[in-house]
Amino acid sequence: MSIVIANIGELVTNEPGGGEGPLGVRRDAALVIEDGAVAWTGPSSAAPAADEAFDAAGRAVLPGFVDSHAHLVFAGERAEEFAARMSGQKYAAGGIRTTVEHTRAATDDALRANLRRLVDEMARQGITTVECKSGYGLTVDQEERAVRIAAEIADEVTYLGAHVVPAEYDGDTAAYTRLAATDMLAACAPHARWVDVFCERGAFDADQAREVLEAGIKAGLTPRVHANQLTEGPGVRLAVELDAASADHCTFLSDADVDALASSQTVATLLPAVEFSTRQPYPDARRLLDAGATVALATDCNPGSGYSSSMAFCIAVAVRDMHMTPAEAVWAATAGGARALRRTDVGHLAPGARADVHILDAPSHIHLAYRPGVPQTAAVWKSGHRVHP
Ligand code: NIG
Ligand code: FE
Repeated sequence: MSIVIANIGELVTNEPGGGEGPLGVRRDAALVIEDGAVAWTGPSSAAPAADEAFDAAGRAVLPGFVDSHAHLVFAGERAEEFAARMSGQKYAAGGIRTTVEHTRAATDDALRANLRRLVDEMARQGITTVECKSGYGLTVDQEERAVRIAAEIADEVTYLGAHVVPAEYDGDTAAYTRLAATDMLAACAPHARWVDVFCERGAFDADQAREVLEAGIKAGLTPRVHANQLTEGPGVRLAVELDAASADHCTFLSDADVDALASSQTVATLLPAVEFSTRQPYPDARRLLDAGATVALATDCNPGSGYSSSMAFCIAVAVRDMHMTPAEAVWAATAGGARALRRTDVGHLAPGARADVHILDAPSHIHLAYRPGVPQTAAVWKSGHRVHP
């Protein structure tokens, strides 16, 4: 089964040297999908015939967005907490426990249905690779259930047993850390590729985070870290030291943190929907980019700190308020996300790549930031299957 998408006004390939500028843009292009992968790209006038044809009518075509950070296995919501924040209350890690209560009480089917709803909502907005974390169960059985359900639907699964200390371990973070690094990890590792820790005041300190991450590495998982979200803590440096795939949030960074990221393979994953929804300052994307760090953008979709599934929204904020160029923001939301997940098959459009194709209702990627809040996803394929509309 082959599909040709012709008359592409602007094809974002993300191939260095594959076209103009950092996005490797090609004009008047066509793309052929075969067996779930990109089989050919070239001038529209030279497009080969295929079983099916789609006329892009001069619009822009991007690689599907790669959302490298989301928390989608949960029940309930926290709209009241958001409203209270907008009237001056501060975001604190403790709110996570509210979602833990709801999640523990939910059936497997309810969790599955909510995850499916969110992944579908993301697909309708051009997200074709989704990373999903556990972290709202916080018992061995509940965390195992979360990663197992995540693995049924999400592309990438992360074990986040060390999200916060649950109420029943109040005052004994050391004992909970031990559990997260031993029995809980053993139950979850078969379903996950990644291990994550919320390294923050009010959650886990550097030694506790290291205990869980090093145990995860021994169990065959690769680390990623919730780092420097609320304070200038040790998370980023720990992530770099352990060669984590990414340090996520990076809201409060010292010069040493920026240098560490810039001289490492660890991607700085920025989550501006969280700063929007918590009224925190935005991370300094320019400082990271100018220092030479690799930057990704992700939604962090979760019911507490930011309940947006819109990568377009993240791009608009990153351009408007974090001083990224539209090209840098689009790269960060596609190729950057792929780097943060150490994936070479997604985040770009060249022969051999997974056929994750996002057609915009717009002539250029710039419109994602230029027309904030406007739905601009016209059609989406994931692995060559049409997932929207
Ligand atoms: O990435 N910071 C820790 N975890 C999530 C928030 C989870 C929640 O508030 O429910 C985050 O912001
Ligand atoms: Fe998160």
